[in-house]
Amino acid sequence: MFYQSSLVVVASWFLFFVFCIWWTRSKKSPVGAHPPAVPGLPVFGNLHQLGSLPHRSLRALAEKHGPVMVLRLGRVHTVVVSSPAAAQEVLKTRDLAFASRPDSSLADRLFYRSQDMAFGKYGEPWRQMRRICVLHLLSQKQVHSFRKVRKEEAAALVARIRAASGPVNLSELIIDFSSDLICKAALGRTYADAKGSGSQLRALFGDLTELMGQFPVRDYIPWLAWIDWLSGLDGRARKIGLELDALLEKVIAEHRRRKLTVKIDPDDMDLVDILLSLGDSDDDDDAASSSTNISLTMDNIKGIIMDMVVAGTDTMRATLEWAMAELIRHPEEMAKVQEEIRRVVGPRGEEIRGEALEGMKRLKAVLKETLRLHPPGPLLLPRESTKPTELQGYHVPKGTRVAVNVWAIARDSTLWDKAEEFLPERFLGDSGDDAGALDFKRSDFTYLPFGAGRRGCPGVGFGTVAVEVALASLLYYFDWEMPDGMSSEDMDTDEVHGLALLKKSCIILQGRPLEA
Ligand code: HEM
Ligand SMILES: *[C@@H]1O[C@H](CO)[C@@H](O)[C@H](O)[C@H]1NC(C)=O
Ligand SMILES: *[C@@H]1O[C@H](CO)[C@@H](O)[C@H](O)[C@H]1NC(C)=O
Repeated sequence: MFYQSSLVVVASWFLFFVFCIWWTRSKKSPVGAHPPAVPGLPVFGNLHQLGSLPHRSLRALAEKHGPVMVLRLGRVHTVVVSSPAAAQEVLKTRDLAFASRPDSSLADRLFYRSQDMAFGKYGEPWRQMRRICVLHLLSQKQVHSFRKVRKEEAAALVARIRAASGPVNLSELIIDFSSDLICKAALGRTYADAKGSGSQLRALFGDLTELMGQFPVRDYIPWLAWIDWLSGLDGRARKIGLELDALLEKVIAEHRRRKLTVKIDPDDMDLVDILLSLGDSDDDDDAASSSTNISLTMDNIKGIIMDMVVAGTDTMRATLEWAMAELIRHPEEMAKVQEEIRRVVGPRGEEIRGEALEGMKRLKAVLKETLRLHPPGPLLLPRESTKPTELQGYHVPKGTRVAVNVWAIARDSTLWDKAEEFLPERFLGDSGDDAGALDFKRSDFTYLPFGAGRRGCPGVGFGTVAVEVALASLLYYFDWEMPDGMSSEDMDTDEVHGLALLKKSCIILQGRPLEA
């Protein structure tokens, strides 16, 4: 009897002791501990909790589980970050440890075994592509040399609105502007057929972005890969991959032929011209290639071309659509920014020049505020840790996927005054607009529409100037209102998530020409 009860006492003391250790460990020092996990289902993990607008579902989950939490998407562990401090650690302090991208079966199939820049793993080939992109393809100088293309496309946009009588489908015109501009800058022409529309290239890249917005089951639950086969995803990816490759072969062959026959003025070079001149260092005494030690494979070159078209088109489209939608919803902001544009350009605005844009502080503020509320990449592109590391004191193993919810950070009411409201004024005080220097990165990591660090968007300069020129043209030449019988309150802000966060419904507006 005595023996038994003393055993119980000893056992309880032992259990109590173990419990105390566990308690202090789990409570006190997170060092070495994993971030809090969101409870999920067997096999599926938290997949079912993502919903159709993951940035919104993840914000709701973060409110419960904290700014650094782990989700299990099938077998893939994903850390979701929703505070500026944690974002800073991922994008700056430990940028190198988080500089890779996770495997993606679609990128493997469509972006040349991920031998491109946007989906490529961190490593020497990627660093080389990135260097080429920053120094040659999307440099300040190169962005400037595309001014002619920008002017042409902005003029075409304005002409098409002038030609229409009655309301225009502004979404359609904005898609045309974004994709024609990117195609001309990257490939030299739009590859449109004689009728000027329905180009094979446009259709293909449209299919590609649609496909990249899909959710391949095999990436998360490998033994269910047959679902992708059954759903037709595999078949479509294979078909589009082959068609795209054939098209790129044609584009490259055409550029090679032209290069042999004519001397191309550097100002007229498109991105394919530049890539080819860097790649063919043996048969060309190009200064650029001898100084940079470049060895691009054909897959790299094709992959980079695809990146440019895919990364540029929908992001610019989304920004322009959201900007117009927000300005229609806020007529007083519309009036103020139009007053500024018309004052700066003057009454005889034949064209809106790059220099004039520098004077348009309010236009820039409108775009920044648009990108705050509607970042085209609300979760950035997924990162992956290249080695075991730490994040906010938690342990993060090698090969962990990381998503940064910049959308949630940019709408956090503890960081932003009237966070959910469209108030361009908040950006008017920003300095540093000199010589096109872009202050899209705030040092406090509360505003990250282009990401940051090694993997941050290299197309900031290209994208913002193009969007500024288009928006300034739309607002300079026309006064905008909702079609008959509708008021500005009827403009909704419903979202749809694909490769970029787009406006769900298209924008139909009546544009009245300024002179009329
Ligand atoms: C308003 C326009 C744009 C926005 C909001 C935007 C946003 C972004 C974001 C959020 C990322 C991911 C950054 C990260 O993971 O930290 C990204 C990456 C990228 N963007 Fe953009 N982008 C825009 C325009 C462009 C344009 C015009 C181009 C090229 C012509 C471009 C090329 C790229 C590329 C190549 C990457 C991948 C970089 C890498 O992985 O190393 N972007 N962009
Ligand atoms: C406007 O254009 C978009 C893109 O081409 C299209 O999806 C949409 O159906 C069009 N809307 C109307 C009302 O024509
Ligand atoms: C060029 O790159 C190769 C391999 O990356 C390297 O071995 C070589 O030393 C480099 N040459 C120069 C001149 O930088």
